[in-house]
Amino acid sequence: MIDIHKVRADFPILNRIVNGKPLVYFDNAATSQTPQVVIDAIVDYYSNYNANIHRGVHTLSQEATDKYEQARLKLQQHFNANKSYEIIFTAGTTHSINIVATGFSSLLKKGDEVIVSALEHHSNIVPWQMLCEQTGAILKVIPMNEQGELRLDVYEKLLSEKTKIVFVNHVSNALGTINPIKKIIKKAHKVGAAVLIDGAQACPHIKPDVQDLDADFYVASAHKIYGPTGVGILYGKEKWLNKLPPYQGGGEMIKEVTFEKTTYADLPHKFEAGTPNICGGIAFGVAIDYANAIGFKNIEHYENELLEYGTKKLLEIEGLRIYGTSEEKTAVISFNIEGVHPYDIGVIVDKMGVAVRTGHHCAQPIMDFYKIPGTVRASFSFYNTFEEIDVLIDAVKKAKMMLG
Ligand code: ALA
Repeated sequence: MIDIHKVRADFPILNRIVNGKPLVYFDNAATSQTPQVVIDAIVDYYSNYNANIHRGVHTLSQEATDKYEQARLKLQQHFNANKSYEIIFTAGTTHSINIVATGFSSLLKKGDEVIVSALEHHSNIVPWQMLCEQTGAILKVIPMNEQGELRLDVYEKLLSEKTKIVFVNHVSNALGTINPIKKIIKKAHKVGAAVLIDGAQACPHIKPDVQDLDADFYVASAHKIYGPTGVGILYGKEKWLNKLPPYQGGGEMIKEVTFEKTTYADLPHKFEAGTPNICGGIAFGVAIDYANAIGFKNIEHYENELLEYGTKKLLEIEGLRIYGTSEEKTAVISFNIEGVHPYDIGVIVDKMGVAVRTGHHCAQPIMDFYKIPGTVRASFSFYNTFEEIDVLIDAVKKAKMMLG
């Protein structure tokens, strides 16, 4: 059970007044809010043990290194990775995907095929298009249906021995659809293809088990999971991380450097060139602890209730259409009102203190499918309330009156 009063007290930003009204924060899919324990961890780092890691023998460096590596262990446990060095710290999901996509250029040849889904964020499309341009590999697309679900019947036909990697999100950022990734992975493995799962939108709501999923790569960002921006993870199976070349050269990722030849460090350091976001990594670990203490089952259950309530209430507004009506979805509601531009709704509801995202949500192919320029997206978190949904409904009704 979520104790909503207790939970809300953990997030100082929820007390903000915006445009003279109490903030109603429904842009959680863009970035989640940060609890006080995570803010405290950031302040503690810079106040007490800010130092570079893995380098110094001095006390502060040791303390920072220990905390950073403890965070890696927490993430290993959270995602159930087999080895701690299968967790690579990155700058976020986009960075993680680029490490894999760039690395695959050394494994692909002309005529090989890679498969993307119609539900992807641009960050899980563009790096692979760049890879195809570079290697001559061919990009195939799993189409979606009207409900915003993937067409697995077509996916099966796209798979062949030519398929080298499939990249699909766990949850669609624009529609909230939860994709059947376990099935998708199983089918890809039958033809020997690797699978990368973009978990950016799933991880605030669902606790993924990478071994149970049998994912080859799983990527996520801390700032969607109640942590800071600028840090994320790339989980990769050891055998795949060993196959991929390093993404960046620099300090920390080497064993030995001479002008004749450089040898690379073992995992995870091979992919962690340069000074990382040390404070961010440590704070990511604290955020994961916080979310686990709330409990992902509790989060899922409560957010589903918010989703059900919000869907019902929004559909009572005449002319309102919801995009993304999959049975399996997270608490994301993308909608439009007939004859009204989504941007205008966003601007008006902001005047009433309600934060939503409007536009194509970095998922233009989904908007093209529905033949719309964009949507208004309200995305809920476990610290939101039913009363806040009522405020959204009132604000949307007022916007409709003013614009319609
Ligand atoms: N990917 C983030 C979103 O969906 C930024 O809003």
